[in-house]
Amino acid sequence: MKFFVDTADVDAIRELHDLGMVDGVTTNPSLIMKSGRDIKEVTKEICEMIPGPVSAETVALDAEGMIAEGRELAKIADNIAIKVPLTWAGLQACKVLTGEGRMVNVTLCFSANQALLAAKAGATFISPFVGRLDDINIDGMDLIAEIRQIYDNYDFSTEILTASIRSANHMKEAALIGADVATAPPNVIKSMASHVLTDKGLDAFMADWAKTGQSIV
Ligand code: G3P
Repeated sequence: MKFFVDTADVDAIRELHDLGMVDGVTTNPSLIMKSGRDIKEVTKEICEMIPGPVSAETVALDAEGMIAEGRELAKIADNIAIKVPLTWAGLQACKVLTGEGRMVNVTLCFSANQALLAAKAGATFISPFVGRLDDINIDGMDLIAEIRQIYDNYDFSTEILTASIRSANHMKEAALIGADVATAPPNVIKSMASHVLTDKGLDAFMADWAKTGQSIV
């Protein structure tokens, strides 16, 4: 499973990139707002650091507007994936932009039928939001499993980009189901390294080592 980082925080991306953990980046209007930076400037900086797909989101609500914004965002770098919402207009924009050979990430997906339409419209990525489904007591991971089955039934090449990931458990479940990509905030990716028994075991080793009076270097 590929790891995308869901942030526009350049320092946080760099820290994970240095460990080889970053296959791509996703941003959205809320994350750009949080970064406090200009969308084109920060997206360019991210694209220069990360060779994989970097999603930048359109904000128009009509297809024409999304297409115009998508073309403008695509000028930033070759590895831009244009993000459009899963509305009828978004699907129209997806079809046109993918027809021009651009990567398109269809976002705000909350149902298998929406994912099916995105694949038919030629989406490069579909972004189902698991955390926001969990928020309303619908199991977000059930949706990932449904989309996996549908895409596999018909050999769609659209990649399932599990989004709105809130925990390390979401990462594991996405990987078990066979999602192509998971995009998560940097703190969630880092939390995957934590285990209480690792900490406990390390404490015990350190205590015993201190008793030996030895040093390695
Ligand atoms: O990838 C989509 C993500 O940014 C939304 O996450 O936690 O706001 O639902 P969240």
